[in-house]
Formats: sequence, structure tokens, C-alpha cells
Amino acid sequence: MSPIKEVIINKKTDISPIWIMRQAGRYLPEFREIRKKNQNFIKLCLNHNLSTEITLQPLKRFNLDAAIIFSDILMVPYGLGQKVEFKKDLGPLLGDLNLEKISKIDDIDFVEKIYPVYKAINLVSKSEITNNKSTIGFVGAPWTLLVYMINQQSPKLKLKKDFFDNSFLINRILTILEKFLKVHIKNQIDNGAEVIQIFDSWAGLLNESDLPNYIYIPTLNLVDYIKSLNTPVICFPRGIKNYKSYCEIINPDAICIDYEVDPLKILNEIKIPVQGGMNPKVLLTSKENLKKEAKKYLNIFKDHPYIFNLGHGVLPETDPNMMDYLVKIVKDY
Ligand code: CP3
Repeated sequence: MSPIKEVIINKKTDISPIWIMRQAGRYLPEFREIRKKNQNFIKLCLNHNLSTEITLQPLKRFNLDAAIIFSDILMVPYGLGQKVEFKKDLGPLLGDLNLEKISKIDDIDFVEKIYPVYKAINLVSKSEITNNKSTIGFVGAPWTLLVYMINQQSPKLKLKKDFFDNSFLINRILTILEKFLKVHIKNQIDNGAEVIQIFDSWAGLLNESDLPNYIYIPTLNLVDYIKSLNTPVICFPRGIKNYKSYCEIINPDAICIDYEVDPLKILNEIKIPVQGGMNPKVLLTSKENLKKEAKKYLNIFKDHPYIFNLGHGVLPETDPNMMDYLVKIVKDY
């Protein structure tokens, strides 16, 4: 069994596997090389040969324990027919949300539109580079996708004033998302994804009283579905104020924590396997400091099932040598 599954399923504590969110990305010159020639990000994700190559790039450099497929959570709105673009320095921009049009999309249209993502997963999981490593598939949580679909761009700090006004639209979109996220998950697993991570990047925008409707119920439906397919699921509710309640209600197979929570509090409150935590900015400092911070997490979780990762994606300005050093620290621990 791969080290990540040993931690998640067998709750092993004597190993510390490592993978990094956004490990395939702009901090790697070989990625930037490909990206320069492929200005359209969605098209790049839909080129199965290039997305396979990009997925494997960090594994060729570093001794990581997982490949995370090079795709994006916004491939789902794209598959549903909403326009999705990535403008330099602006992040994602989405087109108008047409409920009537989205309601007409069926599974076949959806899968056909994003089929190369599954093909890439298949190629990655069969590559000898991923032997004894986990191929990780992922989806955006319904709440985070709803935020992008309605807001049409990153909400940065807060939601539009009228965000919750159209409750009919919100409920319809959540229902549609649940259906297609299940289709997306099933296809990833059928093509070789061994673990699924659910990214809820905007979980921190909600008040406690809104969590059941927008996060707990829709996420629980997905988590139960993934478990029914005998596949481990890691949840990353970034910025959620109460990780303990979240874990008790959702009960994922592992919880990924952000860099704002106190890892000691997590250790004391949470029994399930933990992933992540270290601030990505630590990689922009010195080797000395990197070693100190990485060891802090490794020491805190030394008797707890723990997968090393960051508390959010690796920053584009990161020096690949620092990543190399980090992987070595974790492997030599
Ligand atoms: O982790 C990986 O290596 C796998 C690939 C991956 C990408 N996006 C590639 C990507 C994954 C898992 C994601 C998830 C994703 N996408 C999330 C959840 C995680 C998080 O960051 O909170 C979100 C919110 C998105 C939406 C998204 N996609 C944003 C906000 C951006 C713009 C970011 C920026 O800095 O401009 C993207 C683009 C994106 N997705 C890039 C990559 C490598 C950068 C594309 C580029 O080269 O310009």
C-alpha cells in the first residue's frame, strides 16, 4: 500500500509521507516553459499529454508520495457550460450564470467536455513514476464552486452584498453541483484516482449559522458517496473556524489544515489523520527557518497519523531548491 494510504487507512504514525498543494505549477521553470506556449489555461488542462507531463514534473524532481492531477476545480463550471477564463494577475473570471442552460446539461455532455482530465489521470496512474505513490483526484466543494459561479471571480475578502438574495438559484445550483461532482469523482476514481481531496477554499467566508446549509449538508453527501466507492477522502475547509465540529459532522478519512490554525490545538481536538498546516511563505525564507518550521509540524504530529503538506498552495515565487530541501527534511525525519 502507498505511504499516504498507510497513513489514512492504517493510521500509521512511523512514516511521514509528503505531497504539496499546487506542486505542479508556476514555481517550476519547466511548467512556465509549457505555460508560455499555452496561454489558454483551460485548453492546457484539456490537453491530456501536456497535463500528464505537468502532473509528473514535480515527481521527477522531488521524492514526493503523490501525484495530484493538473486540472482545476473550475473545470466543473466549465463542463456545465459556464465560461471560465484565467486572466493574468486577475485570477479566474467566469461568464454569466445561465440556470436554464445549465439545467439542460446531461452527464454525457459534461463528461465529453472534460474527458481529457480522466485520460490524464489514467496515464498518470499507470506511469511507472507513480509506482507506490498515490494518484490524487480532487473536486471543489459545492460551496466554493457556488461562490465562483455566482460571484464570477475570486471573492477575495467578502461576498457580494446580494449573494444570498436568490435562494432559488442557490438551491438549484447546489443540487446540480452535487449531481455532477459525483459524476466527476466517479470518473476520476474509475480512471485511477486512489484518493480524493475536496477543496473548500472559501469555507472561511460563512458565519457559523450558515454552515449546515452551504457546507455540512452538501459536503457530507459527497464524502459519503466517495466512501461508498471505497476511496479515502481528504477534506480541506480552508479558514473554517471550528475544525473540530467540522470533523465530527463530516467525518472525512483525513483533514487538511490551513496555516492559521494552531497545530497543537488540532492535535488535542482531532482524532482522524491530519494533513498540511505549514505556511507556504516559510519556503520564501531561509533553509534554517524552513527546517525549524517543518520540524515543528513533524514533532507535533509525530505520534499522530500525519501527511506533510502546506496550509495552502505553494507560492509561484518559491525557489525549487527550497522545495527540494523541504522534501529531504521530511524524508530524513
Ligand atoms: O495542486 C496541484 O498541483 C494540482 C492542480 C490544481 C490547480 N488548481 C492548478 C492551477 C489544483 C488542485 C487547483 C485547485 C484550485 N483551483 C482551488 C482550490 C485550492 C486553492 O488554491 O484554494 C481553487 C480555489 C482554484 C481556482 C483557481 N485556479 C484560482 C484562484 C487560480 C488563479 C490563481 C493565481 O494565482 O492566478 C487558478 C489557476 C491555477 N490552477 C493555476 C494552477 C497551476 C495557475 C495557472 C497559471 O499558470 O496561470
